[in-house]
Amino acid sequence: MAKPGLFEKRLLFVSGKGGVGKSTVCAALGLAASRMGKRPLIVEMDEKERISRLFGSPEVGYDGAFVYQNIFVRNLLPMNVMDEFVEIQVGIKRIARQIIGSPIYQYFVLAAPGLKEFVTLGKIMLLEEEKERGSTPKYDIIIVDAPATAHGVAFLRVPFAAAGAVKSGFVRRQADRLIDLITDPARTALNIVTLPEEMPVNETVEMCRSVEDLLGIPIGCIIINSVFPQVLKKRDTAVFDIMKQRAQADGLQKLTRAERKTAAAMFECFEAAMRRRELNEFYISKLKRMLDYEFIKIPFVFSKSFDITLIEQVSANMMEALGK
Ligand SMILES: Nc1ncnc2c1ncn2[C@@H]1O[C@H](COP(=O)(O)OP(=O)(O)OP(=O)(O)O)[C@@H](O)[C@H]1O
Ligand SMILES: [Mg+2]
Repeated sequence: MAKPGLFEKRLLFVSGKGGVGKSTVCAALGLAASRMGKRPLIVEMDEKERISRLFGSPEVGYDGAFVYQNIFVRNLLPMNVMDEFVEIQVGIKRIARQIIGSPIYQYFVLAAPGLKEFVTLGKIMLLEEEKERGSTPKYDIIIVDAPATAHGVAFLRVPFAAAGAVKSGFVRRQADRLIDLITDPARTALNIVTLPEEMPVNETVEMCRSVEDLLGIPIGCIIINSVFPQVLKKRDTAVFDIMKQRAQADGLQKLTRAERKTAAAMFECFEAAMRRRELNEFYISKLKRMLDYEFIKIPFVFSKSFDITLIEQVSANMMEALGK
């Protein structure tokens, strides 16, 4: 049976080492989905809400808002999901507020390992199941800007831990339903963003092993972000070498002193750019050697403003890589 493509799945988790571009990729995936005529929901869980800003929108908070065209974003901080859960369970808002405001609740929720995360995953599952006008799903695709590597694995491991600890009842049923959802390759994929550098590559390989082999969560794509451009085709580097040898041989006599200095700097800069690209290629080959998944390469975008322009570019690259 053919594997469903990335955009045929309904639930895309995005994780990776801190700072590698997870939020940027989530925003770009949302934009790509929207361009394909889908109604995407992007979920983030970040005190410093980022996705809305990338689209140039004001903060959207817990309840969320459309940030750009039909892209809906919600910031589901686990503590807030927990509060909403208590409100629904208690039923009376005033009493729920009293419970939520009490130090015992704060202590209990903060101290209970994995509780907030369990409820947050449950909320994501509810959003995945949410319907409009009877049977149409409210969102065609849900993109989750998940916590960074180790925290991301811990987050996704929570339902397995709950199922291992509880034999029956509500928690067990909820854990089983969550496990069904996050291990279903027809509906879910975990996508890992990385940089073509040593540490992020090592963390990516480790994360793939723990997520797929130990938890059985299907990996979708490995997104290699910020790939440095190839300034010169490989076959043309010989020309560069000859130019450099000639320049060294005649000492660039025809140039002024200042021009000679600039020319030397240009050669150096060019070599540094080529070395950086070579290093990137080395780590891309390492990833491809060690992992057998679909890879998407996203070039480094030289831009001062990290806004919708960056998202548009990253999104276009992604669609091209996926042949959309
Ligand atoms: N392809 C790219 N080219 C240039 N800059 C990029 C690219 N992708 C991301 N960036 C920049 O890298 C920085 C980190 O990106 P982002 O916030 O998306 O990372 P993150 O993995 O979500 O970080 P965190 O772990 O803090 O949540 C930002 O300044 C972003 O604009
Ligand atoms: Mg982020």
